[in-house]
Parts: sequence; structure tokens; C-alpha cells
Amino acid sequence: MSILLFSLFFNVAFAQQCTDGTVRLTSGSTYGAVEVCLNGEWGSICRDFWNNEDASVICRQLGYSPYGAIGSSTTYYSSHAAAHKMIDVNCTGAETNIVNCPYNGYSSYSCSTGRDANVFCAVGVSSSSCTSGSVRLVGGSNKYQGRVEVCVNQAWSSVCTSSGWNMKAARIVCHQVSSNLINVNYGTVSAFGFPQGSGRVLVGYFSCDGDEANLLECQPNYRYMYAYGYCQNSNYYRKYYDAAVMCEGEYTWYDSLFA
Ligand SMILES: *[C@@H]1O[C@H](CO)[C@@H](O)[C@H](O)[C@H]1NC(C)=O
Repeated sequence: MSILLFSLFFNVAFAQQCTDGTVRLTSGSTYGAVEVCLNGEWGSICRDFWNNEDASVICRQLGYSPYGAIGSSTTYYSSHAAAHKMIDVNCTGAETNIVNCPYNGYSSYSCSTGRDANVFCAVGVSSSSCTSGSVRLVGGSNKYQGRVEVCVNQAWSSVCTSSGWNMKAARIVCHQVSSNLINVNYGTVSAFGFPQGSGRVLVGYFSCDGDEANLLECQPNYRYMYAYGYCQNSNYYRKYYDAAVMCEGEYTWYDSLFA
């Protein structure tokens, strides 16, 4: 009897510190290093193979939008947890709990705290079946000009006219919509007379080399966009206005059918 009582006391008082499968973020309510409860203890996640689909599962679990969720390849925030509980996480994005995704335990190999998995969750974005990194030009008189919108994990986003919105970035956008590129003009919607977007801006502060396939490969600064809220409607930085391009190509009779 006393052994039973003791073990009951021990379990209640010491063993169960958290509920398995629960997740939390270290830095802000919508962003930071991810901590997960496994075997009654909080631990961090290693960022190897960490991506936006993994972040969708975390953001959904926390009650935020799974669309526009970012699982960054950069570690902006480190966890306070003593050890990584999960590595090599490969979610499809549809799972309701991170422990339902394929993953390996920490013992497989070691991963330093400088490589903690980070997420940035968005609130109030609408979903779209677009492919991440694809681009569309909105509000121009043909499909080669307009406000730039980039698909970020199943959500269309305007582009912040921050540092990084330059000729290299604009050429990447134009290359995506035209294979016969002759000339690129870039600027803001207000400069070209295109309509400003109204949704949440998720990408900006690029570092493009010029040979990237799309703007998401230009390492957007997600901390500025999601955590600091730069380029939001209510924010000073949206004074720069949404990014726009005029791509001039050698149009064929075929293009004109679809313009
Ligand atoms: C996740 O995917 C990577 C790349 O395909 C693979 O090397 C890794 O083993 C996968 N993780 C698990 C737990 O299967």
C-alpha cells in the first residue's frame, strides 16, 4: 500500500511535467524556436529538413493559420530547452500533431542549439492552392506587369518594397513570367499606378544573387516580416508600398492570346 501511494505521489509530483505532443514557442506568441513535449519533458527540434510544411503543423496546433507558415532554414531564435527531442522531421503539412510526422530521436546524432527549428506563424491569411515560390502580377493591363504577388506556403502575398527589392529581385520575377525577357522596370505600385494590395505582406528584405528561381530562394528576412511586422498596413514601413514590375518581353502572337 505504501509503495502504491508513493508511486502515485511520485508520478503526480515529478514525472509528468507536460503533456506529450504539446508545442510552444520561445520568443513571441506567433514566432520563435519550437519546443515540443515528449516523454513528459520539453525539448527543442533540430532544423535539419525543417520546412514550411513542418511549420504548418506547429502553427495549426497553436491555433494560427497553417497557410503562410514559415519553417525557416535560418535559426533566428534559440530554445531554452536542454536537448533536442526531434530531428529530421518530415511533415506533409496535413498532420494535426507534430508527433504524427515522421521524425528521428535525438540519439541518432547531435545537433547544436544554434540549429534549433524556428517557425513564423501568420494570422488572418486566406488560403490558395498556389505553389510556393510561384509569382503572379496583379492589376496591370497584361500578365507581364502589375503588383508582384508571391505564393508563400499556400497563401498569396504582396512583396515589401524594402531593402532587397532591387533589379536582381525584379529580374527573377520577370523571368518567372516571361522567357523572352528584354527589359525590366521595377518600383512600387504607386509609381506605376497599380492598385495596392490589402492582405498581409509576408515577404521582403531579400538578398538575391540574381540566379535564384524565385524570391523565396533569396532568403527573405522572416523576422522583419512576421515578428517585427514591417510592411503591414498599420506599420510605418508600408510607406514604401507594395512592389511592382513592368516586364518587357519579345511577345509572340501566341502570348497575345493569353495576355
Ligand atoms: C526526412 O527526409 C530526409 C530527406 O529525404 C531523410 O534523409 C530523413 O531520413 C527523413 N526523416 C525521417 C524520419 O525519415
